[in-house]
Order: sequence, then C-alpha cells, then structure tokens
Amino acid sequence: MKKVIVTGGAGYIGSHTCVALARAGYLPVVVDNFCASDRRIPGRVCELTGADVPVHELDCRDRAALARVFEREAPVFGVIHFAAHKSVGVSVREPREYYDNNIGSLAALLAVLERAHVPQLVFSSSCTVYGQPERLPVTETSPIRAAESPYGRTKQVCESLLEDVVSAARATPQLSALPQGSAVSQGSALRAVTLRYFNPVGAHPSARIGELPLGKPETLAPYITQTAAGLRDELVVFGNDYPTPDGTCVRDYLHVCDLALAHVAALEWMERRPAGSFHEVFNVGTGQGVSVLEAIRAFEAVSGVPLRYRFGPRRPGDAVTVYASVDKIERELGWRAQLGIVDAMRDAWNWQQALRAGL
Ligand code: NAD
Ligand code: WQD
Repeated sequence: MKKVIVTGGAGYIGSHTCVALARAGYLPVVVDNFCASDRRIPGRVCELTGADVPVHELDCRDRAALARVFEREAPVFGVIHFAAHKSVGVSVREPREYYDNNIGSLAALLAVLERAHVPQLVFSSSCTVYGQPERLPVTETSPIRAAESPYGRTKQVCESLLEDVVSAARATPQLSALPQGSAVSQGSALRAVTLRYFNPVGAHPSARIGELPLGKPETLAPYITQTAAGLRDELVVFGNDYPTPDGTCVRDYLHVCDLALAHVAALEWMERRPAGSFHEVFNVGTGQGVSVLEAIRAFEAVSGVPLRYRFGPRRPGDAVTVYASVDKIERELGWRAQLGIVDAMRDAWNWQQALRAGL
C-alpha cells in the first residue's frame, strides 16, 4: 500500500482527504500538531474506512521531528501539505505567526522531502491568490494580484517558493555530470501540484467528520449552520447592493468530499507523468457561481429551518463575484465536482446537529 503523509490530516479538508485516500487504496499517515483540530478525528477516519491510520503529533516546523517521521514511515510515496493557519481575520492581527507557520512549515517540509528523496507533493493553496479577479471565470493564468490579507500573501509566497525550488532542481546538473569532489549538491527532483481551492463547504455524509470552527466563524457556511442551531443570533449578509442578479456576492462553493477526491486525482496524475521536476497549478471548484442568498435558500430548503438573517454593510476586501474555470483540472486530472450547494448544505447541517450532540 502506498503511504501518503498528510500534514494537517486531522483538520477539515485533511480528514476528508484521508478518507478519500484510504478508499482509493493509499495509506494516509497523519502529521498534525492539533493546534486547530481534535485528537479524536483520525480515529473517525479509521472508523469510516477500516484503515489503521498512523498519527504523528508534531509541528511541521520541527524539521528534525518531521525527518524522523519520514524515516519511520519509509518508503513514502508522496505528501499532501494542508498544515497551515487559515483565518483571514486573525492573519491581519497576527501576521508574524501566519508567516512563520504557513511559510515555515512548507520550507521545513521541502528540506525534509529533499533529504528523504520523496519528490511528490500536493500543496493547498487558495483562490485568494487571485485577489479581485478582473475576468470570469478565473483561470490558472489569471493574474496574481495583491492579496487582501497576510493569509493570502502567505499562500502567494508558498507558491513562489515551490516555483523557485522546481526551477533550481531543473537547473542543477546531475551528480554524474559534476567534477569529482564537487561541493555542489544534486538538488533533488520536486514534483509539485498546487491546488487552488475556491470555497470548500459541507461535511462527510456520515456526519462523523466536518469543519470545526474555532470560536465565531468567519466564513458563510458554518455561520449559517451555527445561526440555525441557535449558537448565533443572526447572520449578517455583507452587502445586498452589489452588481449581481440578487445584489449579494457570488462564490464557487465546493463540497469538501469532491475537494478530497481532487487530491487523489492529483497523486494519480503525478504518477503518470514522466520523471523530472515540475510545478503545476490547478483550480479546484465547481465552475458555478452561487450568491449568498442562493446559499441561504439552499440551506433553508434542506434543513426546513427558516434562517434569521439581515442585510448589513459590505465587508471590506470582498470580491463581488468569483468562480473558477475548471477546464484544466477536468482535462488533465479527469476530476469534476459531483455535488452542489444543496448537498453541501445538507451535510453541513447534519454535521452541525451531530456536533450539538457532542463531538
Ligand atoms: P484546518 O484548520 O481545519 O486544518 C489545518 C490542520 O493543520 C489542523 O489540523 C491544524 O491542527 C494543523 N496544523 C496547522 N499548523 C500546523 C503545524 N505547524 N504543524 C502541524 N500541524 C499544523 O484547515 P482546513 O480548512 O482543513 O485547511 C487546510 C488547508 O487548506 C490550509 O492550508 C488552508 O490554508 C487551505 N485552504 C483552506 C480553505 C478553506 O476555506 N477551508 C480554502 C482554501 C485553502
Ligand atoms: C463568502 C460570501 C461574504 C460571512 C474565504 C477566504 C479565502 C478562502 C475561502 C482560505 C462572501 C459572505 C460571509 C458572513 C456573509 N479561504 N458572508 N456573512 O471570503 O469568499 O473566502 O474563504 O483560503 O481565502 O477569504 O468566503 O465564506 O468568508 O464569504 O454575507 O457572516 O459570504 O461577504 O460574499 P470568501 P466567506
């Protein structure tokens, strides 16, 4: 069984990806420091899949500890790197911690991958790297604009880091071509796929794993489900005077189970590629725009719960309309989203109700 190290594997997207990996015949190995997740989650992945998933509790910035995991788990087929902080709001208040964790983790991982000769890497990026897109749908070649937050900038820096490491690996001559005794290092291959997620939502249909928002949620879907569950007074819809059909912002909401499968497709695609370094970027979305009001209506329809909401002012930094072009990922990886906003809202609501009864 091919082992895949999943950093941040106890988190929201990581745990769903572990389920998808196990179902596809890989053995996921979780590396997590549980700074934003619960220690019970990997057990749920085992329960859902029947796999015996190893768990290593450590901070990815601890290079020595990370290197020991690769030694212990060798041979490792590839790595999916989810471990990062993800709150846009907190990143504005704590930029140093965001730069340190998000960039430091990737830098440490790349050093360990080179030493362990594990070239295959899938990296979690975000549509936030596009900033306010000028043209729709957003393609992978759309310009990378100034990010709206330190969080967004950490993703831009991480993507540049991968690009630079791949360029260096391509430019470094093979050991055999170097003069004897040369001090120049070989520069191991790096075969990297960056997935730019649009708006991940929903939960596993079993309601055994899902998103665990820390404190008050910033993003729409958990805010809706927490409001319906009575944990929040009301949802404030940030602006209803946008130039969109119903005046509210439009996003590309992607079911987390579909997103998980995109990671499996990326690993399988890398395996088919010829030897040598590369860094390839793919958007992961549905290709469909959904407004805030449409998301609310979908929630109400599947839950039967009328949502308490009111219109408030626009949120600074919000783009009006963002949705992905998914031509590249469909063509190259053969992946396509199967689920829609109604499925996502149903599963998010079931997860919220399960949480209410206790994790
Ligand atoms: P999450 O917070 O649920 O999961 C992240 C996991 O990484 C957590 O289990 C946390 O404990 C762990 N972690 C964080 N820093 C670590 C470190 N230094 N060492 C070890 N473990 C560490 O977040 P998520 O929603 O699952 O996001 C996963 C990835 O996807 C992140 O890189 C995030 O930036 C990216 N992403 C998320 C979204 C989204 O809306 N959820 C959208 C685009 C991109
Ligand atoms: C969606 C829509 C809000 C909350 C964020 C990050 C991005 C990426 C995905 C990680 C917008 C509206 C929201 C609320 C509302 N994450 N809204 N009331 O802003 O598209 O993207 O998540 O990489 O980096 O910025 O998602 O869920 O916050 O907002 O009206 O209480 O819902 O204005 O139109 P966003 P979101």
